[in-house]
Amino acid sequence: MAYPWQYDESVQIGTDYRDENEVREYDERMRRLRDVAKEAADIAEAIAIEPDSTVWEIGTGTGECALQLSRMCKKVFAADVSHVMLAYARRKAEERRVENVEFELGGFLSGFQPDTQVDAIVSQLALHHLPDFWKSRALENTAQKLRKGGRFYLRDVVFPAQTPDFDAYFEALIAGIRKQGGDDFADKTVRHIKSEFSTLDWILEGMLDRAGLKILRKDFNGFLTAYVCEK
Ligand SMILES: C[S@@+](CC[C@H](N)C(=O)[O-])C[C@H]1O[C@@H](n2cnc3c(N)ncnc32)[C@H](O)[C@@H]1O
Repeated sequence: MAYPWQYDESVQIGTDYRDENEVREYDERMRRLRDVAKEAADIAEAIAIEPDSTVWEIGTGTGECALQLSRMCKKVFAADVSHVMLAYARRKAEERRVENVEFELGGFLSGFQPDTQVDAIVSQLALHHLPDFWKSRALENTAQKLRKGGRFYLRDVVFPAQTPDFDAYFEALIAGIRKQGGDDFADKTVRHIKSEFSTLDWILEGMLDRAGLKILRKDFNGFLTAYVCEK
């Protein structure tokens, strides 16, 4: 770390993605609940990637989105702070014989950085691991690695400020997740709200703006918000 006060992003908060069982279960649960191939196709369109584009994914997890995106562009740098996540993702890439994804150890604030500006940056369900001050630093750092006119796709748990009653909102949300994803996923959501650093939409949007990332589109589905931004 460059400075003694630098936030240590290798320490996981909430779910510990350095635990092999957590990682395997995470991948299995995501395969059950998400259609990542479709997500990646939508993201590719939103960030306007071309066959010769270079993309940096931050917080790649088990690498599914990076592997899907790699079919639509020249190169994907896929970074994560968890060695275990990266090992899992690299195994998948080998099994599928994907050669244009480089899995690298690093996060929003430290470790791997692309050595030139990239055409697009993607991050899903990872920025909430940082407290707000460090989110702001993270967005400013990463935006510097995005070429002018390049797109930034950010999807995460973001709390809508206009919610009249957050207790009722969280209760309804957790009940819905319990029904759709089971008790374990509902318990993880409780832990997310309690101990992870998801923030309010106006705070995050202010940070994007200050990082020079103009919001072109915002989609909120009741829990997750996706922002498509342009530098
Ligand atoms: C909930 S998983 C999301 C994985 C994947 N993006 C997805 O959509 O399934 C969160 C991931 O963010 C990683 N992570 C946590 N803190 C991070 C940081 N500061 N920078 C980059 N990745 C981080 C975790 O190791 C984990 O792999």
